[in-house]
Amino acid sequence: MTLARIAAASSLMNPLAASRGRVLASWRMRESSVMRALVVRQPGGPEAMRLQQLAAPQPGPHQVVVAVEAVGVNPVDAGNRADPSWAGLSPPYVVGYEVAGRIQAVGDGADRRRGELVWGLLPVRGTRWGTYAELVAIDAALVGPRPPSLSAVQAASLPLAGATAIQLLDRLDPKPGEWVLVHGAAGGVGSLLVQLARARGARVVASASAQRQPLLRDLGAEVFLDRHAGAVAQQASVAYGRSGLD
Ligand SMILES: NC(=O)c1ccc[n+]([C@@H]2O[C@H](COP(=O)([O-])OP(=O)(O)OC[C@H]3O[C@@H](n4cnc5c(N)ncnc54)[C@H](OP(=O)(O)O)[C@@H]3O)[C@@H](O)[C@H]2O)c1
Repeated sequence: MTLARIAAASSLMNPLAASRGRVLASWRMRESSVMRALVVRQPGGPEAMRLQQLAAPQPGPHQVVVAVEAVGVNPVDAGNRADPSWAGLSPPYVVGYEVAGRIQAVGDGADRRRGELVWGLLPVRGTRWGTYAELVAIDAALVGPRPPSLSAVQAASLPLAGATAIQLLDRLDPKPGEWVLVHGAAGGVGSLLVQLARARGARVVASASAQRQPLLRDLGAEVFLDRHAGAVAQQASVAYGRSGLD
């Protein structure tokens, strides 16, 4: 499972977590038939999300309901807030795919236990009731036990960008010692890709704006290229020889 693989890469750092991860609140949920959520009824800017009461979700078969402690705030959420049509949605809806929290209810056939600390990632298409809420219903297969080393905010900042980075790396399948050139290396996906590539033993050339160099060195990039200083692929070829990078 991808979440387990992100965790297994250990000590991953999402440098954007501090700005993107937001604790919605440690709302201590008393079990109730209602919950609060940031509901979009008219797509638009941030003001389109209104705190409203909704019926508390119930877990379907093979689902759990998670009491939300933290959500990932991802650029795609803003896109969905403004226009959810690509995701197959129409109002009303709640945005947000990434979550960390505690299991509050377990549906038939779901192999999870009440009270368990979990993290999870909702499907990016067709998810009407997202994670910007006190409670979220999610397939049990899409949550995993939260690694004890991660806070709720850290855990909620990783699933979508982490899963994307892992998928990219699986396609590239670099062998230990091979070079990987990461464009946008200081971004959400790129910064995780740099760390995951290093964890597999690959060597990393990172391209980003100049001020990102110290961060990317810390994350394990051996070579840094200023993306504003000219053709990056050419610079990389010069730095490591044309046979070094495909
Ligand atoms: N975040 C996710 O969970 C996710 C999931 C699936 C797909 N994606 C896609 O993956 C891509 C990256 O997403 P992200 O969330 O990592 O974005 P991000 O955090 O905004 O980072 C993107 C980075 O790209 C760099 N950049 C901006 N314009 C550039 C240009 N013209 N040429 C080269 N580099 C440029 C910037 O680097 P500097 O810092 O160097 O200025 C920025 O740090 C996007 O296309 C996004 O739609 C993201």
